[in-house]
Amino acid sequence: MNGCSNNSIELLGLVPIPSHLKIQDGTIELNGEIRLRYQQNDVELSKISKQFSHRLADYGLKISAKGNQAPEIVISKTSTGKENSEAYELSISDQGILLQSSGYAGIYYGLQSIYQLLSPGNSSGRHELPYLEIRDEPRFKWRGMHLDVARHFFPTEFIKKYIDLIAMHKMNIFHWHLTEDQGWRIAIKNYPKLEKISAWRTETLIGHYSDQPHQFDGQRYGGYYTQEEIIDIISYADDRYVTVVPEIEMPGHATAALAAYPELSCTGGPHEVETIWGVHKEVFCAGKEETFEFLENVLKEVAELFPGSYIHIGGDECPKDRWKECNLCQARIKSNGLKNEHELQSYFIKRIEGILDEHGKRLIGWDEILEGGLAPKAIVQSWRGMDGGIEAVNANHQVIMSPTSHAYFDYYQSKDKQGEPLAIGGFLPLEKVYEFEPVPDDIDPDKRHLILGGQANVWTEYIKTPEQAEYMAVPRMCAMAEVLWSPQNKKDYNSFLNRMDKHTKRLDYMDIHYRKLD
Ligand code: ACM
Ligand code: ZN
Repeated sequence: MNGCSNNSIELLGLVPIPSHLKIQDGTIELNGEIRLRYQQNDVELSKISKQFSHRLADYGLKISAKGNQAPEIVISKTSTGKENSEAYELSISDQGILLQSSGYAGIYYGLQSIYQLLSPGNSSGRHELPYLEIRDEPRFKWRGMHLDVARHFFPTEFIKKYIDLIAMHKMNIFHWHLTEDQGWRIAIKNYPKLEKISAWRTETLIGHYSDQPHQFDGQRYGGYYTQEEIIDIISYADDRYVTVVPEIEMPGHATAALAAYPELSCTGGPHEVETIWGVHKEVFCAGKEETFEFLENVLKEVAELFPGSYIHIGGDECPKDRWKECNLCQARIKSNGLKNEHELQSYFIKRIEGILDEHGKRLIGWDEILEGGLAPKAIVQSWRGMDGGIEAVNANHQVIMSPTSHAYFDYYQSKDKQGEPLAIGGFLPLEKVYEFEPVPDDIDPDKRHLILGGQANVWTEYIKTPEQAEYMAVPRMCAMAEVLWSPQNKKDYNSFLNRMDKHTKRLDYMDIHYRKLD
């Protein structure tokens, strides 16, 4: 028997595929019980182990009492000689199961691999684990999934399920797109009208934007997350080594906020929360000090709520029509010696970066923040292709790659749209996601480290329910996870598809409404 054949590796169904994996002859038989050993005085490790015990119950396994002869798993936080706290080593042999990492995240990822080795949906407690050696570490530091909860609102239970999906795929960033023209979804104590007015729209467009004439459903729609709910979500994500990155959009995509606080627009309003998709002309006035005061107060609350290092401020698709007509915006251009409205946008983002700096947060913006000059420490998320990312890297800025070509999961998954739910457009099949390469060839080797990683985006203009969000996100996120975690030389689409046979059973068991593979 050749225990190391690709075939048997594929049968294990590990997604993403580990950096190094060697199957050896022999198996460990589990029969209902497993012994668990770890450094008991380590509070974080105890927490992880508790989560592990809880999860094992799904497989019919329980942690046995001392003295029992059941196979043993040893979880050890120890230096493996690797700096990377997300790296881990897993050995299964006649000695039992040994999981080691220098970091808690690494331990967590090792446990994800162990879950994947167990049989999904098998709660009998009887499992067979092959002897193997895994040494594994992520290729990229930033392995992200985004969700737009503004165009459509998603309940906290679904947000947790989405975080579960992120974590099981060894991804580590949840980019929570919280504000838009069509709704503001985060309660801000200083500005109660955001939850009373900005979180609600009078109705919603029916059908596709391109269908004429536009028709509306006549139904009031909205919702928002309380700060208590947000704290709960962050804690849930933290237990799964997922950082939540909130996005508060500015200066564009801000109509919902302006509906409640019209004094912050150039015209002073009145404005209404948008009922139709697209790019809208009402934006925050860059000439008024009140705008910066409002955003500073909002960002202060956001910075206090979210413990992560990053705050995304949007920055995309900000039409300059109002700024061109506004005396105050024009006066700002003049008094600051700016050339045009692009430089005014740059002025805006730089001021916001200063505010975030005071709260110890790094600013992330979509690639439009390059226009008019980048804020000194800004991280650029490249979405209009890779060029913005390349330009930012060449200017020594950190970059997240999420080009529409490979990372827009709101695009159709099939050429034949007939069988698919209505989507915004485009065509992004699973195989194309798998082909994504976040580091373009023409970037100098000494700048490649500036590419933090990649991210898939799920915009929800046409995604109304959790089930539909799952359908659009999965299995494309499985492919994205492998792109962002596994080494380039391990990428093999056929192997991925073969491993998806077992992985989809796991998704079935989790009740994920994923799109079936072709
Ligand atoms: C974007 O898709 N407008 C960032
Ligand atoms: Zn203005």
